Amino acid sequence: MQYQEQKFNISKLNGISEKQIAAHIGLYAGYVKHTNLIREKIREFENTDKEKNAYAIAELRRRFSFEFNGMRMHEYYFEQLEGGAKEINPNSELVKIVSEKYGSFENFIEHFKTVGKSRGIGWAVFYYDIKGGVPHIVWISVHELGVLAGLPCILAMDMWEHSFMVDYLPNEKEKYIDAFLNNINWSVAEKRFKSARTIST
Ligand SMILES: [Fe+2]
Repeated sequence: MQYQEQKFNISKLNGISEKQIAAHIGLYAGYVKHTNLIREKIREFENTDKEKNAYAIAELRRRFSFEFNGMRMHEYYFEQLEGGAKEINPNSELVKIVSEKYGSFENFIEHFKTVGKSRGIGWAVFYYDIKGGVPHIVWISVHELGVLAGLPCILAMDMWEHSFMVDYLPNEKEKYIDAFLNNINWSVAEKRFKSARTIST
């Protein structure tokens, strides 16, 4: 089985250019390609001389989560921009849950922005812990360091410079974060949240 590139239906965004999105989707395609390639290489090394290639195989395995998460995180990212910007339903269960922890939906957004401004390249991710019933906003370095085990991703914001450098300067992260949040189709996040809750019951 080979992973296939997902196609995204993203209409014109506000503050994020088509050129930026096209370049970024091109990078996503690279992660799909390399996810497949790593699996292929491991099989190839195993079938040639498993013992002699043990170090190479181990290094490829270590590298796998970088490529796989690079692929999957970008799918989360672009899916959130499909269907046009849609505001969050203020009466939704999602708003209720984040308000319990952060005080209000607005405070939750402010906290998400703060995490997004962490130094380095990575992702700001809003997870929902179905076991504890707790939302978490975390920073993931690169694509795979800091992932919370088994938690469903509700919202993912790419904070690699490649996600905004066509439209903004490296010191204009905040402008990109605002643009990203203004273009979110919150029904996608609500759907993810709902299905996480369904699995938990
Ligand atoms: Fe990216």
